[in-house]
Amino acid sequence: MPENILVCTAWPYANGDLHIGHLAGAYLPPDIFARYHRLKGNKVLMVSGSDSHGTPITLRADAEGVSPRELFERFHLRFLDTFQRIGITYNLFTHTDTENHHRVSQDVFTACLNNGYLYTQTEQQFYSENEGRFLPDRYIEGTCPHCGYLGARGDQCDNCKKLLDPTELIDPRSKTDGTTPVLRQTEHFYLDLAKLGPAVEEYLADKDYWRPNVINFSRQYIKEGLKGRPITRDLEWGIPIPLEGYAGKRIYVWFEAVIGYFSASIEWAANAGEPEKWKDWWYDPSAKTYYFIGKDNIPFHAVIWPAELIGTGRRLYEDDPDKLLNLPYDVPSNEYLNMEGQKLSTSRNWAIWAPDLLERFDPDPIRFYLTFIAPESRDTDFTFEDFVRRNNDELVATWGNLANRVLGFAYKRYNGQVPQIGPNGLDATDRQILAEVEAGFESVGQLLAEVKLKAALDEAFRLARLANVYLDRKAPWQMIKEDPAAAGTSIYVALRVIDSLKILLAPFLPHTCQLLHEFLGYNGQLFGRQYTRSFSEQQREHVALGYDGSQATGRWEPSQLLPGQLLRQPAPLFKKLEPEVAAAEVQRLLIA
Ligand code: MF3
Ligand code: ZN
Repeated sequence: MPENILVCTAWPYANGDLHIGHLAGAYLPPDIFARYHRLKGNKVLMVSGSDSHGTPITLRADAEGVSPRELFERFHLRFLDTFQRIGITYNLFTHTDTENHHRVSQDVFTACLNNGYLYTQTEQQFYSENEGRFLPDRYIEGTCPHCGYLGARGDQCDNCKKLLDPTELIDPRSKTDGTTPVLRQTEHFYLDLAKLGPAVEEYLADKDYWRPNVINFSRQYIKEGLKGRPITRDLEWGIPIPLEGYAGKRIYVWFEAVIGYFSASIEWAANAGEPEKWKDWWYDPSAKTYYFIGKDNIPFHAVIWPAELIGTGRRLYEDDPDKLLNLPYDVPSNEYLNMEGQKLSTSRNWAIWAPDLLERFDPDPIRFYLTFIAPESRDTDFTFEDFVRRNNDELVATWGNLANRVLGFAYKRYNGQVPQIGPNGLDATDRQILAEVEAGFESVGQLLAEVKLKAALDEAFRLARLANVYLDRKAPWQMIKEDPAAAGTSIYVALRVIDSLKILLAPFLPHTCQLLHEFLGYNGQLFGRQYTRSFSEQQREHVALGYDGSQATGRWEPSQLLPGQLLRQPAPLFKKLEPEVAAAEVQRLLIA
């Protein structure tokens, strides 16, 4: 039975380009995971979009003197371009300023209100007398009351990651002009997290299979006592409150952005012409829903989003009283990727920007290295020296050369065909390597399903190393002189091994594995047919990015390659990088 797998990825603020930290933390892992499940024949829906609201957008729009809409649309299109170039295969990558998202967010708000999980409260909030307006949380900085960090933001402390209310800050000051804001009365809606707490705690009770940092943080967060959080703000840019009398107020970005997973699924189904289809992932109790995020997003996905869903009674757009909306099955959050030993920073321009990197390097080596150093359980470090070394020593030496050697030899010496098995048949060594690689479909698959992507890649490379050992032992290029039939057998076995490794590696290296697929003589796409809309078409529609539905290919199976299959003329899959490349890249960083 195919499984329904919902793959959610954090919604990036559309206020700047994506950098390698974003890719390694929140975008590449879900793509690898989604591709694996498509190969398994499971039904995957992968959604996300640009986060178009919130102060990260308005701060930058103000600074540039453009409207928030103009700003987010610019970066939204750049995200689409980056995802397409590095091969992140969303079924839908939309944004939070669609009519659909506004409506669904308002419906979630209304459901929580009707179920008694929202209340209003008149509160003192920071008001800038200088600017004549209430200040959004992120416009305020001060000292963290928990850890004493001096530069804590009004919404969250970057040092200890705790969520904050700006009034908790010690020595608050306005980020725009440095003045001290004053407190003023204003009425807002609050999500009653105190009331929702026990249900969230119960939800987390059986999540021992989560990554330890994620489950520990979430349980601790609840243990410290949840209190109501304001979910509206005095703002103009955002989603209106669906009630009379709140014209100057908007729904808080963090309340509605997480609703995007749900609204995007609904939008995808409508686009696909099957408006009820989203229910396969949201109401089928056996569907599994995964949320790929960076660690600063843990409280919103592991606690607040489940609380919102529980607040709706876990039922929207569904009449059947027996059905419940699915809560997150797993939240595989990553730690941070540092660079050349230092934390990435947009403001200090210490980052490698994805569009820039993709100008000079192919997508698969980037995907390989970012998975190889994936910050799954601790912060890790990206260095160009290491990138070049891993590219040359692992990707090229272990895998690329293996495929190249065997294919080149077969193409040249066996008339462009997969050679026949010789009269002596397969020997023990042949059978052993075939069995080892066949077992990889279980071992690599298991690791991928558990979202241990780095370990899965290591396991696939262990098998590639075994294949090299096999080939060195058989040395068909020698054997062909004395016993061409036996050499043919070895080449046949090696081609079959490579054909299997092609599938095991395809989630990580989809572009080159597709090429290899064609060199091996196959037709068609490993991952089904991809949308081929042009950039200008996307510009009009703002959304389309992904697969056309023929996504479950069910190819996660050992090679059945037969002798006689016609090969195509091969070419190297990867390029060796000269050591000078690393030095040049570091130089670019330093002068940027
Ligand atoms: N835009 C926010 C961030 O980049 C939130 C992402 S996840 C969401 O941190 F689901 F809340 F949108
Ligand atoms: Zn702190």
